[in-house]
Amino acid sequence: MAITTAQPTDEPDVELAEVVLSLADTFVLGPPVADFQQPTLAEQCRGASVAIGGCKGTSQQTVRTLARTRRSLSNAHTKVSTKLIIVTHQLGDHMKAQPNDAIAMLEADHAKVKSLFEQFEGLSDRSKASKKKIADQICSELTIHAEVEEQVFYPAVRGPVRDDDLMDEAVVEHASAKELIAQIIEMDPGDDLYDAKVKVLSEQIEHHVGEEEGEMFPKVRKGGVDLIALAEEMKAFKETLAPAA
Ligand SMILES: [Fe+2]
Repeated sequence: MAITTAQPTDEPDVELAEVVLSLADTFVLGPPVADFQQPTLAEQCRGASVAIGGCKGTSQQTVRTLARTRRSLSNAHTKVSTKLIIVTHQLGDHMKAQPNDAIAMLEADHAKVKSLFEQFEGLSDRSKASKKKIADQICSELTIHAEVEEQVFYPAVRGPVRDDDLMDEAVVEHASAKELIAQIIEMDPGDDLYDAKVKVLSEQIEHHVGEEEGEMFPKVRKGGVDLIALAEEMKAFKETLAPAA
């Protein structure tokens, strides 16, 4: 189970929380825990059942704050998931570190999109603005992710993987996802089939991610690809693309 830690900070850090929620099963955050009580962050946490606890070295005051935060968050959450957030101020400083291995980078993208799909599913039909915002973010993240894979990752690993059928299938799956993405971007929540299209996209992506993580990535690792150098190339390419909405 991955654990990510954060340097204590006085800056409100909603972006950090977003990354944290998308990265791993277990998260360790630095304070200020007050951030968790902000409405924006509560919105980010929607759809996840968030447990908060102190670690070794956590002060009594922090424990009391955690208890209050846990109560306020538990009011905001109804769905159960495996996400666990531990808040402490005694931990390290790796939180902002980007994955430096190409596969870890792609897996982090997968986790982020999965979390966004879960957030979407947790929204009621009346939350049209939030639905649109999250669906558009899903589309943007997936578009960038697919470009990075098609332009940089797939060409670099196709040879070492030695499975053209698998690689071809991945490209075709991207093409099909892109068609749905183009339709979803043009639509609004409330339009006929909007939710169905987002749902089908999530199912297609789940299948695609399963094949990548279950079949392709293990073959890439066996293929002796320099995943650190490839990650650098992917990051550089990503920077040339439009930022996620
Ligand atoms: Fe992919």
